[in-house]
Amino acid sequence: MTDRQPLVAANWKMNGTLETLRPLVQGVRDGIAPDCDTEVVICPPSVYLAEVCGLLEKGTLKLGAQNVSEHEAGAYTGEVSIDMLKDYQCHYAIIGHSERRSLFGESDHTVADKFFSVHRAGLTPILCIGELLEEREAGNTEEVVALQLDAVIEKSGIQAFSEAVIVYEPVWAIGTGKAASPEQAQEVHAFMRLRLARHDATIADKIRVLYGGSVKATNANELFSMVDVDGGLIGGASLVVKDFLTICHAMR
Ligand code: PGA
Repeated sequence: MTDRQPLVAANWKMNGTLETLRPLVQGVRDGIAPDCDTEVVICPPSVYLAEVCGLLEKGTLKLGAQNVSEHEAGAYTGEVSIDMLKDYQCHYAIIGHSERRSLFGESDHTVADKFFSVHRAGLTPILCIGELLEEREAGNTEEVVALQLDAVIEKSGIQAFSEAVIVYEPVWAIGTGKAASPEQAQEVHAFMRLRLARHDATIADKIRVLYGGSVKATNANELFSMVDVDGGLIGGASLVVKDFLTICHAMR
C-alpha cells in the first residue's frame, strides 16, 4: 500500500457569520498540533473565502470551495468561477456534494464537467459520491457509486485522478447522526479503488478516499482506522473547534 497523507476537510455549508466563523478558523488554525501529519482543509461559504484566506496565511491549513462553476466566465448570475477561487489561494473545490445534486439539480454530467474544469485549471477536485437510502436498501450501492464515478472518468480520463480526492458520502448518513459503520465505509472505499484500478492500479492505490456523513469526535477514530479510509469530509462537527480538532488528530 502507498503511504497516503491523511486529509480532513471542513464543509461549513451555509452556516455562520463573520462573527462566529472568525473564532472558529482561528481556533482550528492555532489548535492543530505541530506534528500532525494530516492535511487540513477549510471550505467556507464563498463570500468568506477572502476573510478565511487572510486568517490562514499564518498557518498550515489549506482553503477549499464548496462549489464552483464549470464555466470560465460570463453571463452566469450568482456563480463563482475557478479564477475567482484562485485569487484567494484555494487549493481545493468540492464537486458534486449530494446537496448540490439533490437540491440544485446537478446531474452526473454537470459534476463531470465541473471536475474537468477544476482539474484543468490546476485546482484539486474533492469529488463526492454516494447512494440514497433506498438505493442501499435495494442493494444498488455499488451500481450507483460506479455510475457516478464512471461519468467523471469518461469525461476527464483516469490520469486526472492522480490530482484528485474522492469522498464516499452515503446520502443517508449526511447530517442525520447515523454514520456508516467502519465496515460499510471500507467496503465501498475498496470498491471505488477497484473501479479506478481497472484503468490504472497506481492511481487507484495513491488516491485519497475520504469518508463523509455524520463523522464526529466520537466515531472518527474507528472510521479512519479502516485501511482504505484516508480521512473525512466533516459537516456539522466542523463547526465546533474542539470536535473538529479531535477529528483532525484522529488519524492512524
Ligand atoms: P455531516 O455532513 O458531517 O454534517 O453529516 C457531511 C457533509 O455533508 O459533507
